[in-house]
Parts: sequence; C-alpha cells; structure tokens
Amino acid sequence: MNGLNQTFVFYLNLLATVAYNPMMDIPTYVSLFRQSSPYIHAHRGKTFVITLSGEALLDDHCASLLADIALLQSLGIHVVLVHGARPQLDQCLLDADLDADFADDRRVTDAVTMALAKQAVGATRLNIEARLSMGLPNSPMHGAKIRVVGGNFIVAKPLGVLNGIDYLYSGEVRRVDSCGIQAQLQLGGIVLISPIGFSPTGEAFNLSYLDVATEVAVALTAEKLICISTARGIFIEGTLQRSLSLPAVSEYLSSPNHVPDLEQALLTAAFRGCHGGVARAHLIGYGEDGALLSELFSRQGSGTLVIQDYSETIRAATIDDIGGILELIQPLENQGTLVKRSRERLETEISQFLVAFHPEGFIIGCAALYPLDASTGELACVATRTEFQARGTASRLLLALEDQARAMSIRNLFVLTTQAAHWFQEKGFLETTPDDLPNDKKSLYNYQRNSRILFKAL
Ligand SMILES: CC(C)(COP(=O)(O)OP(=O)(O)OC[C@H]1O[C@@H](n2cnc3c(N)ncnc32)[C@H](O)[C@@H]1OP(=O)(O)O)[C@@H](O)C(=O)NCCC(=O)NCCS
Repeated sequence: MNGLNQTFVFYLNLLATVAYNPMMDIPTYVSLFRQSSPYIHAHRGKTFVITLSGEALLDDHCASLLADIALLQSLGIHVVLVHGARPQLDQCLLDADLDADFADDRRVTDAVTMALAKQAVGATRLNIEARLSMGLPNSPMHGAKIRVVGGNFIVAKPLGVLNGIDYLYSGEVRRVDSCGIQAQLQLGGIVLISPIGFSPTGEAFNLSYLDVATEVAVALTAEKLICISTARGIFIEGTLQRSLSLPAVSEYLSSPNHVPDLEQALLTAAFRGCHGGVARAHLIGYGEDGALLSELFSRQGSGTLVIQDYSETIRAATIDDIGGILELIQPLENQGTLVKRSRERLETEISQFLVAFHPEGFIIGCAALYPLDASTGELACVATRTEFQARGTASRLLLALEDQARAMSIRNLFVLTTQAAHWFQEKGFLETTPDDLPNDKKSLYNYQRNSRILFKAL
C-alpha cells in the first residue's frame, strides 16, 4: 500500500472511530488527530517488534488490540508480532493431568510437554491468524485485508543443563533469519513469530517469547520493542515510571528491593533490546483499552518507555516549535503561573527561546532570555511539562541561558515569578524590589500581579 493510500485508510479509520464513538466531539477529535500526526510521520517505514503474552490473547481486549496492531500496519509500520502461549500450554498440561515443571522461572520441557507445547502454540497461532483474517468486524479496521506470514525464522539450541537441571526441550535463540523477516515485511505483511524454534538437526525447542522478541528486535535493529503484558508498566514505590534510561533500569534491577518476576523479565528484555541497538522499548498493559495507540501516538503515553539514553536535547527554538511551546505554557498561563503570550507575540520572540526536546520528538521544557539593556537581561517563561519535572530539565535550560547571557555580555539577570521564587533562589538568585529593575521594565511592572523579583549577577 503506498503512502497516500495508508493516510487515506488512517483518515477512514479515525472517522470510523468518531462514528463509533458519539461521545467524542469534533474539536476533541480534531485536536487528537493533530496531536497524533507527528507520530504518524515519525513511525512510518519503521520496524516495531510487538509481543503479546499468552494472557493478553485470552483477555477481552484481545480483539481490539489486534485491530490496533493492524492499524499500525496500515499506517506503513513494519510489524513483527511475537506471541506467547504459557497459560495455553498450562491448560493443555492440566487437561492431560500433568504438572507444569519450572526451575528458576523457566519451564523444563520434557518430550510430552514439548508435544503439548506444539499443540498449544499451534492453536494460539491459528487463533491469531484467524482473528486477523476476519477483516476485524465491529472495529475501525473493518474490511482491511491483512496478510499474516510466518516461517522457520528462528534457529534454536537447547538451554542444556543449568545448575544441575537439564531443561531438555527448553531452548534459546541461536540465530534469527533477519533477511527472511525483512523480505516479508517489505511485501507488506505482518510477520507472526511463535515461541518455538528449530535446530539445524531438525529438533523443535520451546522458547521464551520475550527472548524470541528481543533477539528478533536486535537482529532487525528495530525502532521499537513493544511488550504487551499484564503489567501496565514499571512501578517504583507505587509510581508508574513514564520513562527509564538504561542506567536507571540496571540500577533498579540490581537494587536490594524485590522486583516482581514479570517486571524483571520485561525490564531484562527491554535492557537487552536497547543495549543491542533497538532505539526504544515500551512496556504496556493490555488491560486498558487503547493503551498501545496512546503509548505510540500521544505525549502522555500509557506505560513505561525504556530508552538507551534519556537525555533531552537543549537547543534554540525555531518557528516550528511554537505549537509545542504553546501547548506547554498555555495551561500555566490559564492558571496564572505564567504571563499570557499570544501566538503572534511568540512568533516575534521565538529567537529568544530555548527548548528542551524529548528523544521521542516533542518539547518538554522551554525558557526565554529577553535582553533589557546592554548588560541586563530577563529570564522568562521557564517551564517543564508536568510529567517530566524534577529531572533537571529546567536546571539545564537555566544553565544554557546563563551561558548565552554571558556570551551576550549580560551581567545582571532578573526573573519575575509568582510561584517559583524558591526554585530560583536555590539557583543563586536573590530577592529584590521593583526599584532595582531597569527603568523601562520598572514602568511596566504589574503591581497587581505582584510577582516576586529575583536577581543574579553573572
Ligand atoms: C519551576 C519549574 C520550571 C521546575 O522545572 P523542573 O524541570 O522540574 O526543574 P528541575 O528538575 O531542574 O528541579 C526540580 C527541583 O526543583 C523543585 N521545585 C520545582 N518547582 C519548585 C518551586 N516552585 N519552588 C521550589 N522548588 C521547586 C523540585 O521539587 C525539585 O526538587 P528536588 O529535586 O529536591 O525534588 C517547573 O516546576 C515549572 O514548570 N513550574 C511552572 C512554571 C513556573 O513557575 N516557572 C517559573 C516562572 S518563569
């Protein structure tokens, strides 16, 4: 499908979504569509490896999740889907009156279990193929023709004997046929990979679907590894972590605090993937309808993003950043924290702004420096998006602006603030009075707003 057709399909799908959802008014829809369009451009042509746990496939949200995955494919994203089948295999064992055998959270697969694994994995795979072949009725992807392809893309080897335990037919990935997968992706199909691999001697091995997905993502140097499981994301001390850098992941995994098994497995996969060259890993839950789309097409996301290096870029703002800056500052203007600025005013003042740019491609912070006279400047509009606060972003913006001020021979910096006086004091600013402001600024001082005035000599 060419780019134009994909966009058309996307329009149709969104229109269908609105039609299906009479609660969504047109302005909300237009705003959502505008917000998602940068992501649509950014994701097109990229490879996403998506894992679906066996539990996700049994959940009520499975149908809408598969529709959302199909939607990604129709937007020109190359999708590799790797599925698990742990509860399905457990059920087969239960039906056969057999016990599941685990050691160190890895299944020990004897010959009988392997036969049942083939049965469980095969049935799960066929169910996914069947669902994706239905044209996904009652969903925005109704009528879409989705081609699902699979094959012997994974070469496996036995896990062998570990700590005295022979894992028999439990295996690990030895090689991924990345050329074969790429060729199928270029033809426009969804590549579906099951957690069973084959050795060159012709034996089948039971694999961990997370290991398979990670190795596939690394072999393809995928843009994203997306793990959809029971876990909504990573919670540390009860707080959902929106993003974690690799050092933060390894610190958390090696901390003395107990890390739940699932979180441990997901973070290990994300860490290994990002370390191996995957740009980003997303850990999201299937329990929330639309979690996949909100993670990929909205700024707030829904789960946890793991990135190689969480470091925003600080750079001079351009005219293209005005929308992002307005989106950041308008809520603060509405609550009276920042002085109102019109789009027109921002357009003329944009060269005085610095922005902090998130690796995912959106603005998370801004700050401006207005020269007042040859040696005096005013800092203004220092703001960080709420969900990214307390990570040093505003401190780094301030340092960059102070460097800029020095380069312009500005020696006296003022800032007027109603809410953040203490923050500036901690950065070396001292409280002062309107009398110390340069004359032009003094005459404009808004006594009603009653901002605190702070000063720093550079
Ligand atoms: C003030 C603001 C820019 C700080 O952004 P930030 O990126 O979170 O800043 P940093 O990460 O560099 O600093 C965070 C630290 O400052 C503290 N802090 C944040 N706002 C503060 C405030 N108003 N007063 C005192 N301390 C504050 C945080 O608690 C945190 O401290 P901790 O690390 O000890 O927990 C942000 O809170 C904001 O956007 N506020 C609204 C806009 C505003 O008032 N701007 C100033 C007027 S120009």
